[in-house]
Amino acid sequence: MIAETTRYLVWATVVENRFTGEDANVLVIESQEIARNAIPGSFVTIKVGNGDEPLLRRPFSIHRVMENRFFWLLVRKIGKGTRRIALTQPGEQISVLGPLGCGYQPSKDIRRVVLVGGGVGVAPLLFAADRLLQDKVETVVALGAARSGNLYSMDAFRLLEAPVHLATEDGSTGRKGLVTDLLAETIPTDPIEILMMRKKRGFDADLLAEKIPPAEFTEIFACGPMPMLGAVARWARAHGVKCKVCLETVMACGVGSCQGCAIPIRSISDAVSHYERICCEGPVFDSWAVFPQEEAHG
Ligand SMILES: Cc1cc2nc3c(=O)[nH]c(=O)nc-3n(C[C@H](O)[C@H](O)[C@H](O)COP(=O)(O)OP(=O)(O)OC[C@H]3O[C@@H](n4cnc5c(N)ncnc54)[C@H](O)[C@@H]3O)c2cc1C
Ligand code: FES
Repeated sequence: MIAETTRYLVWATVVENRFTGEDANVLVIESQEIARNAIPGSFVTIKVGNGDEPLLRRPFSIHRVMENRFFWLLVRKIGKGTRRIALTQPGEQISVLGPLGCGYQPSKDIRRVVLVGGGVGVAPLLFAADRLLQDKVETVVALGAARSGNLYSMDAFRLLEAPVHLATEDGSTGRKGLVTDLLAETIPTDPIEILMMRKKRGFDADLLAEKIPPAEFTEIFACGPMPMLGAVARWARAHGVKCKVCLETVMACGVGSCQGCAIPIRSISDAVSHYERICCEGPVFDSWAVFPQEEAHG
């Protein structure tokens, strides 16, 4: 994980607001401070309206950064805060605190990252894809949702120079099933199969010659609901694939003061060793540190 950077409290102008999927908006916001310092997996908190109600700021992952000046938020409307934030019109200013938290960083020697997103959990993964591709890391995207209306920012994902695999539970888009059903096809565990796959996609002789088993150079970056993350973590552990998960929770302060977002962290032996705050030490964690080992065999 990349360490937290300097955070800013700014009034930032919304320059664009567009619908995505059946119940979400993408806000494009201008702030050089946030855009320049954001890292994939980091988030901001937004003040809802101008009064005291609701009191708490609402957290959102940075969805994308453009030109070191603009950043995108993907806002799924689930309650009063998100519904009001999604109504913000171009030209209006909103209070933004961030960037907050520690983000995704590929582990040592990783050459291939599979981004696995469920529902609104795709939010940090578009930004992660941009940065990975910029850094010339082979990137694969696997997204899932209940139905096609819950697949967000698909235009942007489809324009990436990376394969995008889709699954919906009702089969309305992509494969019928869960996003975890895409893991086997995006992370082949048979070395011959992955060599064939890389050859088909035009990857070159140097890499083909190395014949490294995929598990040793592939890492999963996942974000989505906890049951989905647990299933991805179990699959990764069973196949020896490294995996980082980005967690979401209800947050009070978002800056490490209230301890309300603390979760138990496990050591390699699976015992709970200490607690960490999702808003500061997270929201990105190694999956083995968050999901207990016994579930891996369950
Ligand atoms: C680090 C982080 C990043 C996030 N990134 C995004 C993002 O990019 N896009 C996005 O749309 N949302 C994101 N969320 C979730 C978002 O913050 C919540 O949906 C939002 O705070 C809800 O506010 P509300 O006032 O609309 O809902 P409320 O009226 O506060 O709550 C409505 C219902 O949703 C439940 N709820 C509220 N927050 C959460 C949550 N975090 N997880 C599960 N259930 C919740 C409440 O318990 C309640 O049942 C993120 C959360 C975290 C912690
Ligand atoms: S939300 Fe207060 S410490 Fe994390």
